[in-house]
Amino acid sequence: MTTTTAVPVAAPQQATEVSGIAASDPVRLSARGVHLAYDQRTVVHGVDLEIPPGRVTVIVGANGCGKSTLLRALARVLRPSRGRVELDGEDLQRLRPKDVAAVLGLLPQQPLAPEGITVADLVGRGRHPHQGAFRRWSAADTEAVSRALALTDLHDLAARRVEELSGGQRQRVWLAMMLAQDPRIMLLDEPTTYLDIAHQVDLLDLLADLNETSGTTVVMVLHELNLAARYADHLVVMHEGRVLREGAPADVLDAECVQAAFGLRASVVPDPVTGAPMVVPAGRRRGRVA
Ligand SMILES: Nc1ncnc2c1ncn2[C@@H]1O[C@H](COP(=O)(O)OP(=O)(O)O)[C@@H](O)[C@H]1O
Ligand SMILES: [Mg+2]
Repeated sequence: MTTTTAVPVAAPQQATEVSGIAASDPVRLSARGVHLAYDQRTVVHGVDLEIPPGRVTVIVGANGCGKSTLLRALARVLRPSRGRVELDGEDLQRLRPKDVAAVLGLLPQQPLAPEGITVADLVGRGRHPHQGAFRRWSAADTEAVSRALALTDLHDLAARRVEELSGGQRQRVWLAMMLAQDPRIMLLDEPTTYLDIAHQVDLLDLLADLNETSGTTVVMVLHELNLAARYADHLVVMHEGRVLREGAPADVLDAECVQAAFGLRASVVPDPVTGAPMVVPAGRRRGRVA
């Protein structure tokens, strides 16, 4: 049977508050001395991280350094073997799943859709945390789904089966599901995978707009360093299960950091469009342009 890891855990009742915090307050998400292990193998070693509320945080690092693992812990999917993740100072593991689902949304790296589900139905599942015990569909749900489909340019595909779509279209469906869920904190694991460069920029612009207009906190793993530097307010560079450096991209991303995190010799120059740091790999080849 296929499962959908991105679908929030069953979440009855209108749950827009975590422990009495008003819906307009920023929600603080932090990792305190978090260790994460698969079986006996620890892959994240004592990470301390404060996610700046209402800002865009981007996590980068070499393959296998623990980015997805850390993101899953921030989303309550993985339980730390030591330390804890806190939502507004409370241990995430102790909060009720429905309270967490109303505040936190996760778009995993490789989400799986239930067989045969249509685009509209999958996006509609994003509304579960907002629905009552009997999952009564409301006008607000219809409106949220319609808005999510419009923002991701998916209205024309609403009746199609998700499995018939291209990788890029499917990625947009998962994003739409999270938009319909409308969580205060969005956690996204490589959301630009499968997208061509134009759609990558579209998606990142959409998230940046959402962050600006609604104050949604965005935390995402990106593997494209230059897009990461351009869209991050706060950049977290991981290396072998630890945070190597964090801060504003301009303060963090230099040649030494790229060498330490990726083992790559590179120049870091200002991005001609935004002035953000831009990584230009040295490589061994000088190219063919005379
Ligand atoms: N489900 C799993 N079971 C066992 N080991 C895993 C699992 N997922 C990831 N790992 C291991 O944990 C380490 C970190 O993986 P991951 O967090 O996926 O890295 P990244 O997202 O930075 O590429 C890797 O060594 C990977 O092999
Ligand atoms: Mg990963």
